[in-house]
Amino acid sequence: MFLMDPPYSSGGITLSARKQPTGKKYLNRDGTSLPDFFGDAMDSRAYCFYMREVLFTAFNKTKPGGILCVFIDWRNLPAMSDAIQMSGWTWRGILAWDKGTTRGQVGRFRQDCEFIVWASKGKTDNPPDCGAHIFPGCYHISSVIGNKKIHQTQKPVELIKRLLKISGDKWTICDPFMGSGTTGVACLQMGRNFVGFELSKEYYAVAADRLEEQQAEQVHNT
Ligand SMILES: C[S@@+](CC[C@H](N)C(=O)[O-])C[C@H]1O[C@@H](n2cnc3c(N)ncnc32)[C@H](O)[C@@H]1O
Repeated sequence: MFLMDPPYSSGGITLSARKQPTGKKYLNRDGTSLPDFFGDAMDSRAYCFYMREVLFTAFNKTKPGGILCVFIDWRNLPAMSDAIQMSGWTWRGILAWDKGTTRGQVGRFRQDCEFIVWASKGKTDNPPDCGAHIFPGCYHISSVIGNKKIHQTQKPVELIKRLLKISGDKWTICDPFMGSGTTGVACLQMGRNFVGFELSKEYYAVAADRLEEQQAEQVHNT
């Protein structure tokens, strides 16, 4: 299974707004100073092409019946669902992550949700080897905020664990944009095999430390 949280290339309607540092786009209310990250300044067409390449590589590395879950926000949701279909995956649907209160703007609908587009490599077992479950299409889990944050766009471990339930116990999970390592932590907690990649040296170190701490905690508790 590929569970990925790539840069959204979001944060503004215009290209110049998107080209601002990620901290300026995503952290203006938190008051936290965390390192900026890469790959977040493409226009929608470039983003679609880029994600098509990433998803095509992921498709070729996945066994038949494997699952893909990709995070995205509303701005690049169309580009992402296009890229998924262009790269060979069978598009299965869109899940909503209701992340709780977000900054509102007078006279507009709140952007409370981010999305997870999911797909499979051809036919998928129903369900793989994790029992006969129906999984929710909407997840109400608060985002990580304030001084608990160690990455600018960190996802809650609980959310990732819920998404991973669609995978079989023996599957290997890959997150090619692991940031602070949240998917890895969720995999360790669930006893799943995990492979992760991160381009930023700073965030790679954060993720490695976090995974080692999680491993040590589990060894200590057994
Ligand atoms: C949205 S963040 C992931 C956050 C992560 N889910 C977490 O909870 O911490 C995306 C990450 O992908 C990294 N990234 C961008 N381009 C990359 C690439 N080509 N290869 C690997 N990592 C990349 C960024 O540095 C950033 O840390």
